[in-house]
Amino acid sequence: MRRVRYEKNGGPEVLFVEQAPEPEPGPGELLVRCEAIGVTLPAVRKVREGKEPAPLGGEVAGTVVALGPGTSGFAVGDRVTGLAFAGGYAELAVVHRATASHVPAYATAVDAVALVRSGLVARGAHRAGRPVAGESVLVTAAASAVGGLALQYARNGGASRVVAAVGDPAKADFVRGLGADEVVVYGDASWGEPVDVVLDGVGGALLAPAVRALAPGGRLVAFSSGGGSVDAFELLVRSASVIGFQMAAIARDQPERYARWREEQWEAFRSGVLRAPVHVVLPLADVARAHALVEGRVNCGKVVLVP
Ligand SMILES: NC(=O)c1ccc[n+]([C@@H]2O[C@H](COP(=O)([O-])OP(=O)(O)OC[C@H]3O[C@@H](n4cnc5c(N)ncnc54)[C@H](OP(=O)(O)O)[C@@H]3O)[C@@H](O)[C@H]2O)c1
Repeated sequence: MRRVRYEKNGGPEVLFVEQAPEPEPGPGELLVRCEAIGVTLPAVRKVREGKEPAPLGGEVAGTVVALGPGTSGFAVGDRVTGLAFAGGYAELAVVHRATASHVPAYATAVDAVALVRSGLVARGAHRAGRPVAGESVLVTAAASAVGGLALQYARNGGASRVVAAVGDPAKADFVRGLGADEVVVYGDASWGEPVDVVLDGVGGALLAPAVRALAPGGRLVAFSSGGGSVDAFELLVRSASVIGFQMAAIARDQPERYARWREEQWEAFRSGVLRAPVHVVLPLADVARAHALVEGRVNCGKVVLVP
């Protein structure tokens, strides 16, 4: 089977496709023939910033072709999606059943990788901000896969005003189409009227203006892999708070809640209340181009690879 690998850290050009032995599913695992593979910012950063090469992956969707010993709840031939961090950029990927779920008949594999994980992160981050209907919400990295879904959760959750913050004004039409009332660009001198909730998917140096965008009593949800520091004085003068959010913790510690959210999210997708925007679908051989799109910060929605 074909898989993506790299031998030294660097830019997208270090990625190449090679032949590799088929992986074997262990206890509790499914072997999935991938029909869609999501490219995520954490994976792109791993290639660029990691200390040494490591297996690449993220969300995948496809058909179950084998089950590991004692794996229940799934059968060969099932259409599934799940997480394959250790080897997901491949024709065949091993997915642990704890992260796997069925893909409904009305959805494609591309829909599944664009919606499930990104949408659950967006939903979880939105809820972590404890938004009350009528409050205002600002989303950074608003055109990313997670950000585009977060805008919709804010809009559908009754926000009085939804502000999209992006790195490039060329993304304005895209984020307005997902429910943003206003669009700000990171470097703008003002981000407009203060907001009650910020959902931050960028971190780093952007945390300072993101905190300054908060109204008194505001909440900033930090869910990015970008790290960064917050000036406590800026919180004090606003009586504001910062809340960390990691979806993996909910999936691990509250599996029933995670499954319920996933079902509700599919229902919202089926009824058209929620869209899962896709920037582009590329063949696996174009993996370097896929990473370059995300690293170059030009994508509007999910970047997807198809083996
Ligand atoms: N907490 C969790 O459980 C969890 C899970 C998954 C993902 N996340 C986070 O959610 C955020 C969005 O991820 P995603 O997979 O949805 O992204 P994505 O679809 O791959 O979108 C990438 C976009 O993110 C923005 N961005 C922010 N910081 C960036 C950076 N350092 N380098 C390049 N682009 C950057 C860029 O848009 P702009 O230039 O317009 O900002 C870029 O176009 C990431 O910070 C990721 O770490 C969190």
